[in-house]
This record gives sequence, C-alpha cells and structure tokens, in this order.
Amino acid sequence: MTEFVAAIDQGTTSTRCIVFDAHGSIVATAQKELTQHFPRPGWVEHDASDIWRDAHEVTRAAIGEAGLTARDVAAIGITNQRETVVVWDRRTGEPVHRAVVWQDTRSGELVAGLAAEGGQDRFREATGLPLATYFSGPKVRWLLDQGLRERAERGELACGTVDSWLIYKLTGRHLTDVTNASRTMLMNLSTLDWDDALLDAIGVPRALLPEIRPSVEIYGEAIAEGLEGIPVAGALGDQQAALFGQTCFAPGEGKNTYGTGSFLLLNTGTEPVASTAGLVTTLAYRIGDRDPVYALEGSIAITGALVQWLRDNLGIICSADEIEELAASVDDTGGCYVVPAFSGLYAPHWRSDARGVICGLTRYVTKAHLARAVLEATCWQTREVAEAMRQDAGVELSSLKVDGGMTVNSLLMQLQADILGVPVIRPAVAETTALGAAYAGGLAVGLWPDVDALRAHWREDAAWRPERSRDGDYGQWLKAVERSTGWID
Ligand code: G3P
Repeated sequence: MTEFVAAIDQGTTSTRCIVFDAHGSIVATAQKELTQHFPRPGWVEHDASDIWRDAHEVTRAAIGEAGLTARDVAAIGITNQRETVVVWDRRTGEPVHRAVVWQDTRSGELVAGLAAEGGQDRFREATGLPLATYFSGPKVRWLLDQGLRERAERGELACGTVDSWLIYKLTGRHLTDVTNASRTMLMNLSTLDWDDALLDAIGVPRALLPEIRPSVEIYGEAIAEGLEGIPVAGALGDQQAALFGQTCFAPGEGKNTYGTGSFLLLNTGTEPVASTAGLVTTLAYRIGDRDPVYALEGSIAITGALVQWLRDNLGIICSADEIEELAASVDDTGGCYVVPAFSGLYAPHWRSDARGVICGLTRYVTKAHLARAVLEATCWQTREVAEAMRQDAGVELSSLKVDGGMTVNSLLMQLQADILGVPVIRPAVAETTALGAAYAGGLAVGLWPDVDALRAHWREDAAWRPERSRDGDYGQWLKAVERSTGWID
C-alpha cells in the first residue's frame, strides 16, 4: 500500500489538490482560482467545465509536485462547495447550463411559493432544512423550468452537486455522498434516500439524480487521463470534511470554518437532533455501512466574501490580508456595524428578504472603522449561531476549534474569542477541509485502520483567549440585523 492520498478541495472561489502522507502532513499543493459569474443581482454561477478542468489539472499537478505518479497514490478523496448544482448530458458528459451556486437567490419565488403552501418549515422534519434559496432542490427545479424537463424525464440528463460532477468525470459513475445529498432538500434524513414526497413537491424527477452512497467507500477507479487506476474513495461536503479533518468524531465536538461563508458544525451522534433555534440538521458523515453520524449546523452565507467585497467592490483594501493592519489601526468600529445579508440571512434567521446594511455611520467613521466592523460581522454572526447551538443541543461551548483561510488573521481570532467569551483554537494543519477528504479516502482504502488513528494527528497551533467581554454590544448587533430584514418584498 502506498502512503499518499490526494484530496481535491473544490471550493466556491478556488479548486485545489493537496497530497497528504500517512501522518496527515501536507506533501504538495496545487491551486487555481475559479471565475465567478454574477449575471444579475443575486445570481451566482460557475462554469462546471472550468470546475472539472481545474480539478483535473490541479490533481495532476499536485501529484507531480509531490514527485509521485498515479501508481503511488492510494486514493483520491473529494470535498466540495455544497448545494451548488450541475446538470449535464449523459451522452456527451458536458454541462447543459452553468452551475447554479449555493449563494444564488434566483429560486426565491419558487421557495416563497412552496413556503406559502405549507410554511417555511414544511420539509424540516424530513430533511432537517428550512425552505431557503440556499439548498439545491429549488435550484434544480429552476433549471428544469428552462426547457430541460422533458429531457430530464426521458433520462437523458444527469444532475448532481459538485462531488457528484467530479466523481462522474473521474470515474464515469453517477453517485453522490450522503452529506452532499443532505443539502439538496430532496433526501430524507432517516431513510438516506431520495424522498418521493419531496421530489413531487419540489418538482424534480428521480431519473435525474445520482445514487446516494456513504462518505467513506471506494466509488470506483479513476479513468481520467494521468490519474488512471487511482481509487476514488471518499467524498464529504466541505464543511463536513472540515469537521472530519478536525477529528470531531464524538458527540459534542465541533468546529467553525471561516471561508467564503462560515459554518459551525457540532457532531450530535447517530441520531438527528431537530433544531428549534434556526440551525440545520445535516449528515456529518457515514463510514461504509455503519450508522450515519449527524450534525447541527449554523450556516452563515457571507464572512470571507465580505472582505473580498471590501477589496473588489469598494477598493478600500488591495489584498485581503491588508484588512488586519487597517482594522488594527483603530481600537473599535466607531459604533459602526455591517450586516452582510448579500444573499439574505441564513442561520439562525433564514430571511431571504434581508439585504446588507451598514448601521451607525457618523462623520467620525473612517475606512479603518469599516474594516474593523467587517471583521466583527464575522464574529457576531458566529456568536448568533453559537447561541442557537447552545439552545438546540444544550451544549455550553467551552472552546471553539477553528480553521479556514480567515484564521490566519490574528485580530479576527482575538475579536472572535472576545465576542464569544471562549478560547478559539487553531490546529497545526489549517487545511482541515482537504485533510478531512484525505482521511475519508485513506480510511476507505485501509491506509488508516479507524478514526482513532486519525485523532493522533491533531495538534494545536495557536489559541486566543478572551481579553475583553463584548456582551454589552451584542444587543446593538441584533438591532443592526433587524434593520437588514424586510428589504425585499
Ligand atoms: O454550503 C456552502 C459551503 O459548502 C461553501 O463553502 O468553503 O466554498 O465557502 P466554501
């Protein structure tokens, strides 16, 4: 058995491949930025051909960079941006439309119509999800309504989330993993199968959908050029992969990942826990035919993307890392709050009628205050989902394991510790999303015997402890959130 695993991490803004060794250490990395398409306000698209081309290229590049060939790689594990949907022609293997991205709000009318018939929580019991534009099912319905329905019903088209698209291009098989399927609003959380009542209500034919498989399993051998023969052996949605990479295998263990958005996930064990506080119940992972493991999730749509907006749309900073110095040049936000409800508000509010607001502006406020308020927006949103987690799971957060691109920002981490009132801990391998996918692939092919072997790899890199309580400002944040709602009719 060779001792290397390649993890493909197909995120919202980039596609990368990281090769890990048997100790969970990084051997080589290759990455490409992904072009974003914003054809109308609220619409976000990706070119699925770009996604596959980049994934293929970076995987070959990372394996080469590691000084390996396909024969030296024990498995390919996949992790991906979730909810984003791709529809392709089964005969040509080519996409028939741009991928509709998770942040896209075009299904707003459909979602409002479904909610008007039975309430926003009509599918919660079956799926763990509130009705929102975020999830895949209504996006698929929108695509079918663009003249694709007949072809879909004849079985000519295939549809899937990004894991499914990549597995198809890598192996020729049409599968999806259970964590990704749990984000579609079409899978029943208890049966782990597509649910006919949901398919009927949302208007998606079963013929279009992939087979749902465990997260840790050999799906097939790669047939893609340069990767021939490598077992494609594990897939997890990126947030679940980060939970796996942080080795949160016991109930009560959780993490927060700071990427385009932020996603706080708590392992709740082998029974799904229903949320009454605005969280989502989701699959954490399933290892082979063992009992599935569930999680509660606090999904925040916009965190890192707000920093990008400050850079790309306002030009206040030239690169994302400049925000730390600018925000540190002032002691506070000057009373200013930014609520980045660009795609509505996700957890715990689920308000698609919300749009972004900046509150508390005076002549005193400078771009430095604004930069600091942008960082605080991430922390306040995290506090909201942490409070919801406490209500739903009855678990008092004693510390928070963190990962993702934004965690290099020490000021942000300190603000997060202050605003949550608990220590924030970053692991030595901050690439926990890719690591989780590597773990899934490696477990499937027997590179590691069990999850206990993975726990031994986790090491702390840095910790931030609360220095200044911010409890007194929380009410002001909630007031700003209130101001963002009711903007769209
Ligand atoms: O649910 C959306 C999430 O999977 C996106 O993650 O890392 O691409 O921001 P990321």
